Order: sequence, then structure tokens, then C-alpha cells
Amino acid sequence: MDLPDPVVVEGILRARGCPWPRPHVVTTTGSTNADALESLTSGADTGLCVVAGEQTAGRGRRGRSWVSDPGAGLWSSTVVRDYPQPTRLPLLASLAVVDAAIQIGGPVVHVKWPNDVLADDGRKLAGILVEAAAREPGVESAAGAVVGIGINMDHAEESLPAPGATSWRIAHSVVPDRNTLLAELLVALNNRLITEWSRSLADYRRCCRTLGTGVEIDLPGGNRIEGRALDVDDEGHLLVDDGESSRIIVAGDVVHATIGT
Ligand code: BTN
Repeated sequence: MDLPDPVVVEGILRARGCPWPRPHVVTTTGSTNADALESLTSGADTGLCVVAGEQTAGRGRRGRSWVSDPGAGLWSSTVVRDYPQPTRLPLLASLAVVDAAIQIGGPVVHVKWPNDVLADDGRKLAGILVEAAAREPGVESAAGAVVGIGINMDHAEESLPAPGATSWRIAHSVVPDRNTLLAELLVALNNRLITEWSRSLADYRRCCRTLGTGVEIDLPGGNRIEGRALDVDDEGHLLVDDGESSRIIVAGDVVHATIGT
């Protein structure tokens, strides 16, 4: 199985001026998010990254599972401690994937609100799950979150994990060196965490395909709303005009409509 080499990745991080530690690379695990959350609770600092070649219980958004077949993707989770506005983290993480793809000359990618990374044909190339550590009163070491990023890398059309998914290989013909991709992803995430939010928000608005389009959104409670996506606010929430009023959407699954866009 093609796994990143932690020493090589650390070398690239140093060369690129990123102070984050050598990643922790394992062949297989349940979920790198679960592992990184455990590290966070045990005191790990921002930048500690867990990478696995396979996840047997990969977690997706809204309680779904994330198929993480051996060697098929880059499955990583990074500790982010004490970020002051955690609702922005999913958007910043999706920008980090876009930045890394640009930096290594990868496929053209876009973002679907809040943080799906899409190839140019609209299919999903990467998913992101930000999970906060459970806060225990008086336990300072648990304050933080993990940023889980799953990038489909090596799938052929017939082995894609879900309808509407794609892979780096399909979108760009070649699969990048995993050391370079992981290192550039971490460099980009670190940069996004220290970049002024107003700049990242402007970048997000530029690469978010959802804005200005007609959307249907499945809300967490089971309701569906339709409307036009107007903007993303300072918290990272989506503003949608449903024909009667402007609504603030905190969480949901967006279906990009083609009619009326
Ligand atoms: C989504 O549903 O789109 C989010 C998918 C997030 C998957 C990644 S893979 C690495 C990390 N570990 C997990 O268990 N999930 C995230």
C-alpha cells in the first residue's frame, strides 16, 4: 500500500516553513478522526496529523460512513486547538484542499457549501468532517477540534465509493506523490488558520460553486428548502433566499439545482 513517509513529509514541512510535527502514519485504523480526537484529549497540539492507508469505520458528515478502501485515498485528520471561530474551520479546510491542488498542479477544483470539494465536472473529490472534542468542565486539554479530510485518489470509474463521487486519478489522469500532497495539504491548512478571515472568505466566495445558484437543501431535522444561495456570512453559514425571506442555513446537504440558476 502506498503510504506517506512521515520523515519525507516532515522534511517538506520544514522546507515550506510549516512548524507542524511529523505526521503519524498507520496502515489501518477505524477512523483517523477518532484517533486525532484521542490525541487532542491527551494533549496533542495544533498540527498533529494522523494518516491511515485504510479506515475500517471512516466517518462522514451527519452520521454517514465514509468508504476508505486500502490505498485508495489520502485519509487524514489534523488537530486544531483553540481556534477562536470553529464554525469557520470546515470552510478553511476546504480552501486548504483547493490551495494544495493548485500548489501541486492538480485538477481544477471547486467547493460546494459548506466543505465538499468537487472536481470540475461537479463530482465529489474530497469530503471534510470537522469534529469538536467533547468539552469537559475544567479539562483544558480537550478544547479544540479535528479536521478530517478524505481525498479520493486512486479509484477508477468502476471502483468509485459512492454515486456522485470521483477521484484524483479520474479528474487529473495522474495521482500525485502522497508525500507531496499530504505536506502541501498541511502547509495550506496551517496557512489558512493564520490568514486573515476576510481574505479567506473572499477566496471562499470565489471558489464556492453554490453561491448564486438555485439550491435544494436537506436540513438536519428532515425538512427541505429551496431557494437561491446568496452568500456566506462571517460564521461560515449560508444565506438562502427562499422567495419570501433570507434564511441563515447553519448545516445541511446542498443539492445544486440546474433549473433557474
Ligand atoms: C463527508 O461526509 O463528506 C465527510 C467525509 C470525511 C472523511 C474523512 S477521511 C479522514 C477523516 N476520518 C474520518 O473518519 N473521516 C474523515
